[in-house]
Amino acid sequence: MRIRKAVFPAAGLGTRFLPATKAQPKVMLPLVDKPIIQYVVEEARDSGIEQIIFVTGRGQRAIEDHFDISFELERVLEGKIRDTTDKAKRESLEAMLEEARGISNMVDTAYVRQKEAKGLGHAILAARELVGNEPFAVLLGDDVIYGPTPCLKQMINSYSRYKCPLIALERIPGDEISRFGVIDGTLVDERLYKLSGMVEKPKPEEAPSDLAIIGRYILTPEIFEILGSLPPGKGDEIQLTDGLVELLRRQVIYGYEFEGRRYDAGDKLGFLIATVEYGLRNTELRDDFREYLSNLDINTINGTDPFPKKKTDSKQ
Ligand code: G1P
Repeated sequence: MRIRKAVFPAAGLGTRFLPATKAQPKVMLPLVDKPIIQYVVEEARDSGIEQIIFVTGRGQRAIEDHFDISFELERVLEGKIRDTTDKAKRESLEAMLEEARGISNMVDTAYVRQKEAKGLGHAILAARELVGNEPFAVLLGDDVIYGPTPCLKQMINSYSRYKCPLIALERIPGDEISRFGVIDGTLVDERLYKLSGMVEKPKPEEAPSDLAIIGRYILTPEIFEILGSLPPGKGDEIQLTDGLVELLRRQVIYGYEFEGRRYDAGDKLGFLIATVEYGLRNTELRDDFREYLSNLDINTINGTDPFPKKKTDSKQ
């Protein structure tokens, strides 16, 4: 069966990004000129997804508004286009209008509210009625993936051959592995691992491999029944990884080492790295931005010392 629907759990509190996320969803922070979540929605659309089910929480209306029609904005832009006699200005306004309309036409959207942030597994369970009885994708908005072929499309291609649940994998070196779900498995085909176990955020010395679970999944509806009766796990939350461990007892699950560069845009440093690299890819900005970066003296930030000595240091 074709993968038509994708669940976007977005109800997290964004604590890694406070205070920026105090009153706005983390996935609405702009990466160059688009909110983070739009990159992930575009990936889903480019992978053939027809409907996106957002699982949101309180204070996250901005996500709904972003993917909805903005009458006011469209009317204002239409008025400006009518009034301008400057051809270049009109073309630029027309491009803006087309872009605004394109966002609301991108895909069909549905929303479900997760009343309490009780974990990723709990968020996915909230989408049960809207997903129904068919295989579906899950995309986590924090993980922005850049590559020649959308990550989810690579996975859907693999799913159409094997028809089993599939999760995205990336090799993560060293201690950082304990920030992820980690798999145990055997390589059975190019980039494809047959899983034999999974553990959520293990201590580095307890990690079964260096293959981390990344925020893209293709799941079968059996996961709902499992998540519905799962006790809380790590962090007292209903963990998707624990649900997958149970699913593994019933079905074969594969892991797919995708091709592409992943950014952890939900983390301050990851977000900065993504901003620099997406800035350098942006056709409008890249020439000026590259020039700025290549002239930047990172030790003094062009005259304003970023590492001023503390008073105690100067006594030495
Ligand atoms: C979630 C999952 C984890 C996975 C990670 C990928 O964790 O629970 O297994 O490795 O996403 O981004 P979170 O980052 O939401 O704590």
